[in-house]
Amino acid sequence: MNKGFANPQQTWDKRFEDDDYIFGTEPNVWLAGHAGLLKPGMHVLAVADGEGRNSVWMAQRGLQVDAFDITPVGVDKARKLAADAGVTVNYSVSSVEEWPWKVGEYDAVVAIFIQFADPATRATLFKQMKSALKPDGLILLQGYTPKQLEYKTGGPPLLDHLYTEELLREAFGDMDFAELRLYEDVLQEGSQHSGQSALVGMVARKTFGCHFR
Ligand SMILES: C[S@@+](CC[C@H](N)C(=O)[O-])C[C@H]1O[C@@H](n2cnc3c(N)ncnc32)[C@H](O)[C@@H]1O
Repeated sequence: MNKGFANPQQTWDKRFEDDDYIFGTEPNVWLAGHAGLLKPGMHVLAVADGEGRNSVWMAQRGLQVDAFDITPVGVDKARKLAADAGVTVNYSVSSVEEWPWKVGEYDAVVAIFIQFADPATRATLFKQMKSALKPDGLILLQGYTPKQLEYKTGGPPLLDHLYTEELLREAFGDMDFAELRLYEDVLQEGSQHSGQSALVGMVARKTFGCHFR
């Protein structure tokens, strides 16, 4: 099984080393389309937030945002983006493996293009994301589907890192799906996500009776 980069921090430090924001400074389009779910005052976690486009946008909307990413270079750029926007985000440098996952802490966990995770890492990560939610909390997740391997316009060229409907239905089957939509769109999110893309967007709600640990 291909597990992705041998040294992900070094790889992403290098990718983010220039001043430009390689995924852009505007929020992910799918996430922005769900602005109505993200209410001022909500406590949210942005997983693997990169250069900060999504965390800054949520903070601008009045949410209380925690965000982390493995790359200190990317997190520095995110801090700059937040400072330039005049908002506060609680940033940390951490891998998903080392992040001190809290239980029952967040109104929403936002995971946009976190497909660095191989199946084993992903299984643990998805459990931790669910467990981090308060009752009624939301997971908002965007990723690529296997068809993206034909387009090559972003995302890892690794089939087992991509999301099928079946995979997400199984991983989040203990939640209520408000949306699970496979679709295609032309992305223009910086230089790295650019062109015709095969996507999935998922909004899942933690129901009151659910116990994820
Ligand atoms: C495709 S980028 C998406 C960034 C951001 N979510 C966005 O939409 O702009 C993937 C991100 O995952 C981060 N990453 C890779 N491996 C990681 C790991 N093991 N733990 C935490 N972050 C990781 C990278 O540094 C990068 O910022």
